[in-house]
Amino acid sequence: MTLLPETRQPHESDEKHLHYFADYEPSTGDFLTDTLAGLARSPKSISPKYFYDQKGSALFDEICRTPEYYVTRTELALLDSIGPEIASLTGPDAVVVEWGSGSSWKVRKLLDALDRPAEYIAIDISREHLLAAAADIAKDYRDVKIGAVCADFLEHITLPDKAIFGKGRKLGFLPGSTIGNFAPDTAARILRRIAEVVGSGGALLIGADLQKDESRLLAAYDDAGGVTAEFNLNVLDRMTVELGAKLDRDAFAHEVRYNKDAHRIEMHLRAKYATTIEVSGKSFAFAEGETIHSENSHKFTPDSFQAIAAQAGFERQKVWTDADNLFSLHYLVLP
Ligand code: AVJ
Repeated sequence: MTLLPETRQPHESDEKHLHYFADYEPSTGDFLTDTLAGLARSPKSISPKYFYDQKGSALFDEICRTPEYYVTRTELALLDSIGPEIASLTGPDAVVVEWGSGSSWKVRKLLDALDRPAEYIAIDISREHLLAAAADIAKDYRDVKIGAVCADFLEHITLPDKAIFGKGRKLGFLPGSTIGNFAPDTAARILRRIAEVVGSGGALLIGADLQKDESRLLAAYDDAGGVTAEFNLNVLDRMTVELGAKLDRDAFAHEVRYNKDAHRIEMHLRAKYATTIEVSGKSFAFAEGETIHSENSHKFTPDSFQAIAAQAGFERQKVWTDADNLFSLHYLVLP
């Protein structure tokens, strides 16, 4: 089993270790707008991107260490075994661009496997977490130029002029089945954005979680230690702290469902009894049992995922799965 490191707090000097830092300011203004819109909707919803403040990013790291959440350790083990193949598919001097880099653990395996990688660009929505993780990578990989971009996934990202566009291949990296957070049409749109960044001749290494036994899936998103529940409820704390919302956190419970038709895990925050959330002078009433739909996590077959990749113009070069068929990694190329 791979041991996952603890998350550290950011230092003021983190930015200094980077080749560049670009801030698209995925702002809290959006959080207010999206919260008001989401609570007014029926059924009520909020985007999972709001899970990832400093606390939420640390909780996600903790989820990855729970025994039930097989995703991270399965993918890490798979990355270990296919490293040499990825290196030969990619060639030397690669520029690695990661979407949703989080704590940047997984990319270490990729950088270790590749032949003299030239640059690593980490893109994440959580600014402090991003800077801390990128600075740590910069200290450990002195020969790799490290850039950080704070941005929302759905944003159109142009890499700064300082980015290296040398002789090596551009390799997008989107591990963890993060793409599964999006409905298939949005996922295809994101892959098209990635295609624009890696360009013709570029490649994308992307993780896609596989359809499996429902009980196994439910357990992975509702661990016995209650870490995932905390992660889900943390978005309510953000509303309280950042938006000055008035709400009763104890009125809400973490709920997980498997939506068989859409092949996705859904996370909800369910009102245990009738309650209200007040934000910005507006009041949103919850009946007992009503939920805020907070996340979708789509589960694929290797082929259902390839169909989405094809919509974005990517071609299949290689697909790997672990021996238990829990998770898949896809090496896609843009002709
Ligand atoms: C980071 C989106 C891949 O969907 O498995 C983990 C997030 N949510 N446990 C996932 C998550 C609850 C995770 N992704």
